Amino acid sequence: MPCTAVVGGFFGDEGKGKIISYLAIADSIAVAARGGVGPNAAHTVVFENREYRLRMVPSAFVNPRTRLLIGAGVLIDVDMLLKEIELTGTRGRIGVDYQCGVIEAKHRDLDRKSSHLRGKVGTTGTGCGPANADRALRVLRLARDIPALQPLLTDVAGEVNEAIDAGKPVLLEGTQGTFLSLYHGTYPYVTSKDTTVSALLSDIGVGSKKVDDVIVVFKSYVTRVGGGPLEEEISEEEAKRRGWFEIAAGTGRKRRAAPFSFKLAKRAVLLNTPTQLALTKIDILFPAARGATSLEQLPPEAKQFVERIENELKVPVTLIGTGPGASEIIDRRRELGLL
Ligand code: IMP
Ligand code: MG
Repeated sequence: MPCTAVVGGFFGDEGKGKIISYLAIADSIAVAARGGVGPNAAHTVVFENREYRLRMVPSAFVNPRTRLLIGAGVLIDVDMLLKEIELTGTRGRIGVDYQCGVIEAKHRDLDRKSSHLRGKVGTTGTGCGPANADRALRVLRLARDIPALQPLLTDVAGEVNEAIDAGKPVLLEGTQGTFLSLYHGTYPYVTSKDTTVSALLSDIGVGSKKVDDVIVVFKSYVTRVGGGPLEEEISEEEAKRRGWFEIAAGTGRKRRAAPFSFKLAKRAVLLNTPTQLALTKIDILFPAARGATSLEQLPPEAKQFVERIENELKVPVTLIGTGPGASEIIDRRRELGLL
């Protein structure tokens, strides 16, 4: 605090939505800004017994007092954004940067029809890659050009920096995961932009010196959708047996699964310089961990897993997800003197 950036440490779907929605309320976040590529991301947020899968609206919407922003680096799917604003009832407190790029039907068509993108890379088909290509060619339309977006337009970098300077709690929400980075990931099986914390800050327009905490989120096992390498990948049957089998929130595709990778996690730490780590779904690895709210309530094997992560990565694990509900979390920040 006051400015915290949250990014994914594996291939996306680490559970950032849960961590961010928790922080939005626990830390009374005044301003939350979403970075990342665009509607290719889907963040799952469980709030008041309802599950939301959000591709545009920041996951911090669960705090009704939080101002919600989408940074200039993020691509907008206009229909999807407007629908999500209605679904979440966030009109009046959500803003979109003038310079967000806008995805059009032609971008989605290209993404879905390309055998390279859809077939080989296994993209989400949301048009992000072709839209970012058009942006690089400087022909992409921006949010400021779209009549339906006029009431939402704002200077996101300006708002975020002003809030930080005023000492208000600010949350920067990353999407995707470190190894989907166009630069640092498993190219060509990556998304159309960098996805490390550096990109998140650039998406929103915040300098690194203004960020107090960087939280890298790891899931207790690794999943990825689409093509590309996944070391120690297990079969679908085995994933089902272990309870690791997941269906992608955005595309409905099956997620491939592998055990927690210390090798990838170390690399993610190198690329993002986290001050804290969040670990999600520990209850899937250790069912007795379900619902725990303190480290002491964890079964010994789960505690050892957390200790091993801290020993190998040399970063404290401050937030541990122990179930899908908002209150199923261990928050160690106070006990570790980090709040
Ligand atoms: P694209 O981002 O739609 O171009 O897809 C490129 C690759 O990134 C594919 O393997 C997608 O499955 C993956 N990808 C993009 N966004 C996400 C995400 O938010 N979660 C998980 N995988 C993603
Ligand atoms: Mg996701």
